[in-house]
Amino acid sequence: MKAIVVTDQAAGTAGMKLVERPEPLAAINDVIVQIHASGFVPTEMAWPSTWTDRRDRDRTPSIPGHELAGVVTALGYGATGLSVGQRVFGLADWYRDGTLAEYVAIEARNLAPLPGDVDFTVGASLPISGLTAWQGLFQHGRLQAGQRVLAHGAAGAVGSMVTQLARAAGAYVIGTGRAADRQKALDFGAQEFVDLDNDALEDVGGIDLVLDVIGGDVQKRSAGQIRAGGTLVSIVGPAEARPADGLAIDFVVEADRAQLSEIVQRVRDGRLRTNIGNVSTLDNAVAALNPTDRISGKTIIRARS
Ligand SMILES: NC(=O)c1ccc[n+]([C@@H]2O[C@H](COP(=O)([O-])OP(=O)(O)OC[C@H]3O[C@@H](n4cnc5c(N)ncnc54)[C@H](OP(=O)(O)O)[C@@H]3O)[C@@H](O)[C@H]2O)c1
Repeated sequence: MKAIVVTDQAAGTAGMKLVERPEPLAAINDVIVQIHASGFVPTEMAWPSTWTDRRDRDRTPSIPGHELAGVVTALGYGATGLSVGQRVFGLADWYRDGTLAEYVAIEARNLAPLPGDVDFTVGASLPISGLTAWQGLFQHGRLQAGQRVLAHGAAGAVGSMVTQLARAAGAYVIGTGRAADRQKALDFGAQEFVDLDNDALEDVGGIDLVLDVIGGDVQKRSAGQIRAGGTLVSIVGPAEARPADGLAIDFVVEADRAQLSEIVQRVRDGRLRTNIGNVSTLDNAVAALNPTDRISGKTIIRARS
């Protein structure tokens, strides 16, 4: 099969190569999915799991990409809940070969059915951004209607999902980001926007929940805006700042079939919009994943047209 591989951590995405690889075999509880579309998070090149296995042994050449939409072509021993020929989408294991390929072996529990009226490109754009926003807001952040949410990077992949889901849950959403992203963040439902380079984050105040996708100084400045009993949720590593009288939590997104189904249902009925910036083919993926211009929104790679 065709696949993108990486072998050199120092080279980052520039080291990606399109090669031929053997098709994967289904292990216990796996299914094989013929990939139609794949998502990619640029920071994957910095994740240890891209380079080593769970025992820290080199696993290169590895296939990046952890979001997929496609069709089940085979079932491994014990795989349940899915059938051959079924359309699916989901989140692949961090430590296994990923989704920038024509086929992937993936545990069935990491997938959900993809309804027939949802395009594969849309399906591949949802797993990481949708599940991260969902888990950050509702599981880790315990969001309640009426609360004030600070959604960092509100025009980005995760932030745009955070903004929409928090609004739909009855929160008041203050989005942040670059000046150029103001209108996009407002269009996704933010009621206010803070341009992090030019506006004073310190004027915001009274925040119940910060969803941080940036970290560093932005996170430290945000912690001071959280009211007593509030929560800082970080998705960029252990929290570097704690609210004076609140919780600081960090987490890594996990696959969840029920949550994926809820997210895709919201896309179908128009309550949730995807944030896709560029769509390319597997043959052109190396160039598409090394853009020369700033791309706002996710890049999706189609393995089949
Ligand atoms: N823990 C988890 O489970 C998990 C899951 C998903 C993602 N993540 C991480 O979360 C981060 C965001 O992912 P994403 O896919 O949402 O990325 P993304 O689509 O690039 O969104 C990030 C947004 O924040 C903006 N931004 C970043 N730094 C900024 C700054 N200093 N000032 C103003 N705006 C800034 C970006 O603008 P520019 O493009 O101009 O920088 C972009 O609009 C990544 O580090 C990713 O690895 C973690």
